[in-house]
Amino acid sequence: MKDIVAIVLAAGKGTRMKSEVPKVLHEIFGRPIISYVLDAVRDAGVTDIITVAGYGSDLVRESGSVKDTKIVIQKKLLGSGDAVATAGRGLPAKFTGDCLVICGDTPLIQAGTIRQLMVKHKDSGASLTLLTAELKDPTGYGRIMRDGAGRVTKIVEEEHARLYEEVINEVNVGTYCFKAKDLFDALGQIRPNNAKKELFITDVVEILHKRSRPIESVTMDDPCEMIGINSRKELAEAIQCLKQKVLDEAMESGVTIEDPSSTTIYPGVTIGQDTVVAPNTFIGPNVRIGTRCHIGPFARLTADVTVGNDILIGNFVELVRTVVGNGTKIKHHTYLGDTTVGRNANIGAGTITANYDGKNKNKTIIGDGAFIGVGARLVAPVTIGEGAVLGAGCVVLKNRDVPKGATAVGVPARIIKGASTGKKINNK
Ligand code: UD1
Ligand code: CA
Repeated sequence: MKDIVAIVLAAGKGTRMKSEVPKVLHEIFGRPIISYVLDAVRDAGVTDIITVAGYGSDLVRESGSVKDTKIVIQKKLLGSGDAVATAGRGLPAKFTGDCLVICGDTPLIQAGTIRQLMVKHKDSGASLTLLTAELKDPTGYGRIMRDGAGRVTKIVEEEHARLYEEVINEVNVGTYCFKAKDLFDALGQIRPNNAKKELFITDVVEILHKRSRPIESVTMDDPCEMIGINSRKELAEAIQCLKQKVLDEAMESGVTIEDPSSTTIYPGVTIGQDTVVAPNTFIGPNVRIGTRCHIGPFARLTADVTVGNDILIGNFVELVRTVVGNGTKIKHHTYLGDTTVGRNANIGAGTITANYDGKNKNKTIIGDGAFIGVGARLVAPVTIGEGAVLGAGCVVLKNRDVPKGATAVGVPARIIKGASTGKKINNK
């Protein structure tokens, strides 16, 4: 039997989100909140995971994020303590290992922090090891109470915090490592003695302390990591924190971000050294950018874009599902979708690929050294050969490929010159 099981609490409705969608399915950078938590748990090395779903459980199940976890349903939302007890009923009767309990609404938690918590728990032999954080503004979180010797004695929830507890800055992150037996023994003792009439997992702490069971803690130093999302405002804060983290990593790796406040870069994007990202630029999922490029201002690399080295992507350029070869310039007002551009090509201002025909997304290929005149329209699928030249404002119809070295102009575009012979081509 594995000696640790994770219990991810995700049954709550998220009343303060004011939404039909369960809270844990709200998205950050296109992925549900809960998927971040589950990734962190998995990356920390825990493979046995129980997800407690409740409100909108069908949607949670269908979301795919929870697919390799065991889902248990909390039928009535009687509180976080009841959610853990529900998960406990899904464990083998003689389970003697540890339970990592984690809130499904804390998406920025890092695998390294969870690992640190588990290591301290094992090394210390504690009954409970919990994660705490020091916050300048602890409003909304459970406060950690300690005795004169610094031992954790209980957690006081915001609504029960009296004046002296309110000023305590150390808060409960909502991530705990328990000895399973101690956890479920204590859970049997908790009562809904609070304004919400719920069973609070946090009340287990005082019970364990009173039973002289050893309690340890790990205090984390990044206040962003512990954000619990209960409202749209906290969702925005979490997005902001994650966004800043990605920008900081890019800058540390040698990328200039001229105006971080107006720049969005998705997690997982790679950008080479000495690339400059100008203001108001959006770089979406699965984008790779090489070295010495200049991107923006007002550029949008929507998704699935690979850009080589020494490339200029200027203002109001949008690229999606597109590959661009080294040294190419796409400087102004252009849309390229499902396109492969070779090396050292020049894409004139206002070039547009018509990649969608109403049914399918079709591909455009632009060869090395091609010169696309301003305002060209390329109706996909179409190939513009290496070194070909397109005149300003031309419309290249689908499958009317322009051969290598040829020049095409007009609407619809006709080839007026083949570069290899220089002779005019009769093209209807
Ligand atoms: C909880 C903690 C608080 C901590 C904070 C950290 C409790 C009582 N309080 O407060 O000490 O500082 O998280 O973010 O736990 N849930 C269920 N079933 C329920 C109720 C809740 O699964 O019946 C889940 C929620 O989906 C959520 C988690 O438990 O993931 C915590 O519940 P929430 O209502 O968000 O608690 P907080 O008030 O944020
Ligand atoms: Ca919460």
